[in-house]
Amino acid sequence: MARTALLNVMVNAVRKVARSLVRDFGEVEKLQISRKGPQDFVTSADLRIEERLIEELVEARPGYGILSEEAGETIGTDKTHRWIIDPIDGTMNFMHANPNFCISLALEREGKIHAGVIYNPITDELYEAELNRGSFLNDMKMNMTARQHIADSLVASGSGGLREDAGIYYRRLARAQNRTHGLRMTGSAALDLAQLAAGRTDCFYESGLKIWDIAAGVLMVTEAGGLVADLNGDEFDFNSGRIAATNKDLMPQFIELLRVET
Ligand code: IPD
Repeated sequence: MARTALLNVMVNAVRKVARSLVRDFGEVEKLQISRKGPQDFVTSADLRIEERLIEELVEARPGYGILSEEAGETIGTDKTHRWIIDPIDGTMNFMHANPNFCISLALEREGKIHAGVIYNPITDELYEAELNRGSFLNDMKMNMTARQHIADSLVASGSGGLREDAGIYYRRLARAQNRTHGLRMTGSAALDLAQLAAGRTDCFYESGLKIWDIAAGVLMVTEAGGLVADLNGDEFDFNSGRIAATNKDLMPQFIELLRVET
């Protein structure tokens, strides 16, 4: 797979900082058995990774703006480009020495997500996508599954909706569990979207998410031939934090499944 200069910059930056994230993970594993626990260490590791990733990106593309989970927004001199960063998506997993977490990095160009990299340094799985150039997992082209029936589908979701309305959240969860092959909650929305693009699940939904959780993942899905929508089937909007993602055939059935009485 021939990588563009832009994706080279992104992949190199992510891989470079991931090395220290792997060392930090080893430390977190040890801290599981300490009375103090890993909380403070994880908070500083998150900030350290973010700082180093920003340093790498600023060196490669000095004028770009930055929006990052912990550091917030920095307006760049180049108003057409903005990095969107989640230094550790799946922080709770990381804190519990569970290896399902990743670095998620996206580039927005003129208000549209143009490229994305999602990397789990523990499994060494690198997901990447660029607009109109497809999405790849460790250099292999990704494609959404071709399932036709929601009852045969494996659905991933997360607990973001609990920040909004717990009643709706649990009713939706029950429908998703009861009317499909099963429900998976992995604790990383970025990896959920990447794995959906890789055909490891058929559908993903969640609400209460931030743009840095899903910017790169949404591009993985659409470049693998999938669709994203609001939970009610309306056009997807990053600002809403609500997302339903699946293949083209399943989308109408999926939106129907997600409909709950308010
Ligand atoms: C979280 C993860 C998780 C989702 C949460 C997010 P973070 O992001 O994406 O899967 O359920 O709503 O906050 O905090 O680990 O970057």
